[in-house]
This record gives sequence, C-alpha cells and structure tokens, in this order.
Amino acid sequence: MFQGKRILLGVGGGIAVYRAVELMRLFIKQGAEVQVVMTKSAQEFVTPLTFEALSGNKVHSDLFDLTEQHGMGHIQLVRWADVVVVAPATANLITKVSRGIGEDLLTTLLLASEKPVLIAPAMNVSMWQAESNQANMKILRERGFYIVEPVLGALACGEQGAGRLAEPETIVQATLPLLAAQTLAGQTWVINAGPTIEAWDAVRVLSNRATGTLGALLADAAAVRGAAVTLIAGKDTPPTRADVQRIDVESAAQMLEASMDAAKGVDVFVGTAAVSDFKFADEVQGKLKRSGNMQVELIENIDIIQTVAGMQQRPTKVIAFAAESENHVVYAQDKLKRKGVDAIIANDVSNMGADKASGWWVTANHQETLPATSKQTFAANIIQAVCSLGLSKQ
Ligand SMILES: Cc1cc2nc3c(=O)[nH]c(=O)nc-3n(C[C@H](O)[C@H](O)[C@H](O)COP(=O)(O)O)c2cc1C
Repeated sequence: MFQGKRILLGVGGGIAVYRAVELMRLFIKQGAEVQVVMTKSAQEFVTPLTFEALSGNKVHSDLFDLTEQHGMGHIQLVRWADVVVVAPATANLITKVSRGIGEDLLTTLLLASEKPVLIAPAMNVSMWQAESNQANMKILRERGFYIVEPVLGALACGEQGAGRLAEPETIVQATLPLLAAQTLAGQTWVINAGPTIEAWDAVRVLSNRATGTLGALLADAAAVRGAAVTLIAGKDTPPTRADVQRIDVESAAQMLEASMDAAKGVDVFVGTAAVSDFKFADEVQGKLKRSGNMQVELIENIDIIQTVAGMQQRPTKVIAFAAESENHVVYAQDKLKRKGVDAIIANDVSNMGADKASGWWVTANHQETLPATSKQTFAANIIQAVCSLGLSKQ
C-alpha cells in the first residue's frame, strides 16, 4: 500500500516510543521508505540505533549538524517526505507545534512542512485532558493537522483512561489517505454492494453468493481519493474506512429505496450489488411445515440500476456490473442500452467469491479489458476507468 512512498517519522519523548518502532516496521513492510527524526527526550527511552538498524537509514536529531544541513537538513527532510507522521506526539511537542515554536530538528521541520502532517498523541490521561493541551489540540485540528486520537486503556503510569497511543495499525490506516492523490475531492459517490436476501418464510431465504468485497474495496478506494462515499451494504459486506457512510440493507426492496435516496444528484453511482432478480410472491408468516413437493411463485424485483439511471435527479454517471458466464461483452453492450447506464463492468460469474477479479470495461463507444488482479487493484482500475468518463454535469 505504501510502495515507493516516503514517510518522515517524528518520534517524541514519551513512554510509547517503543511502539513507534513497530509503527516504522509496519510502514516499511508495506513498501514505504522511512526516515526517523527523534527528539532528545525520545532518545532517553529508545536509542537511535534501534530505528537505524530497522530502517536502514541514519536517525536525524540535531538541527545544527552541518552534514545534515548540507544533505538532509530540516528543509530537505520535509521536501523529501510525502507525509510526516509524529508518533508518539508528546504534550510538549503538541504545545510547541501549535504555537509555532521551532527549537529542535523535529519542531523546526514541522514548522517548515507543506506536506500533510499526522499527529498521534500519547500521554498520561491528566496531561491529555489538561485544558492547555486540549486548547493546543484544537489549534492543530483547525490548522489542518491530521490527528489519530489516543485511545482508552491502561496507561504506562498505571492509570486508566484516554491517552494511550493508538494501535500502530490504526496509525498506518490513517496515513494511507494522506498519500493518495485526492483525485476525487469534491465528488459524491454512492456504491451498493453485497447480496440481497428475500425472505420466504420466517427462516428460509433466497440469496446469492456475493460477498460485497469488491463494493467495499471500491468504497474505500473512492474515499481514499477524497470522494464523499455512501455504501449501501447487503448482508455481510465487509467493513470499510470510518469515513464511508454505510447503510445496511437486506432485501432488494430495501436496497432500491436506500439507493434511490442516496443517489439523488450525486456524481457517481456504481451498482456492484448482486440484487436478486426475483422475490417470493407471498412471504409466509411463521415457518412452513414440510408437506411433500411444493411449487413456489417468484415474481420479478424492480431493477435498481435501471431505476437509478432513469431517476429525475439522476447521478451524473451510472455504472453497472454484469456477471455473465459467456458472451460477456456482447451482453454488456445490450445491457448498457437497455438500462440507460454510462458504463458496464462485465465480468465472469466465477469472480463472485474469488480472491482475484478481471473483466471488461464497456461504454457506448469503447471497450477494454480489465486484467486479472487482486480485487483491491481491480477497484483502483475501475475508479480510473470511471474518471475517464469525465464528470462534468450534463
Ligand atoms: C518516564 C517518563 C515518561 C514520559 N512519558 C510521556 C508521555 O507518554 N507523553 C508525554 O507527553 N510526555 C511524557 N513524558 C514527559 C516528556 O518526556 C517531556 O515533556 C519531554 O520534555 C518531551 O520532550 P519532546 O517533546 O521534545 O520529546 C515522560 C517523561 C518521563 C520521565
């Protein structure tokens, strides 16, 4: 996820310094190059050697080191970085940064940073809640610093409360969006995902094997690129980033209602959900008793994609999926016209539930293959294809 990205990790002098080592290792494991800047106090807790040995880079700490100034001085360090992460951020660092004080390498480079800066505070609960600290945090938020709030838990001082450094995995997750180019900033996307469930009686249902994985990945990928995303999620659709607004539904009727509500006037609607074409003509109250062979009447569900594409306040672009077992592109072209959508992602039914995905991107005058990749890359490729449609309102 961080392949080729450059992370400048600022480490303040708190008891949680050892967890910054784990954080650094996670960034490196995901492909990032990491340069570490430690405050003097931080070196009281863990020696620079630990960070140097694990990052393969010299740890920086001295503002007045001449070799630093000619090579990797404070200005060069922030220019080098794609993002600056400060973890743990001490109350002292938070005070200095919020007041614009630059008195050592870390505080000075933070003053000079035009790159996104993520701050992960860690301290004793009383320090965290102190009025002065909260006032300083408010200033940081207002100035556009990204904050990963400390969490509740047992603190090193033996007390309980808020102040524990967030989990390194949480900090990694929060860093990711700061690296993605905000190509979808200002856009609103609605995505539906997962299976639908039609009740037959109190216990029996009609459903399908869709997992909602691709829709959830697509929602994450759009949100990471700056879009405001709503995910209408069928049962067991995987969780997404916290900034994706999620509406859980079960039946096709619920998915239709939620999709129509959310899709009004948005920029992009992507229908990834495997919506049941049929529902039971009659939903039986209670549980049906076994009584030999029986015939069941199924009636057609309303087509969600076609309805959304024909809405009065139609999304600027409507993209549908078509899972077929043969003649994928031909069927997709037909579906494109019938449903009045802007593009179809045709794919083979074997994609459902699989780890990888592949398909074809089909529009009225263009078609291309979407190669077999992980579903995450597939989602990124779809976003790129949607962007190629151009999103100026018609
Ligand atoms: C054992 C010990 C643990 C400390 N833990 C923290 C802490 O978790 N958070 C914090 O803000 N300060 C903590 N401090 C206080 C800081 O080390 C102190 O404010 C220092 O000046 C911070 O320097 P820096 O912000 O330049 O790294 C601790 C001090 C000691 C002696």
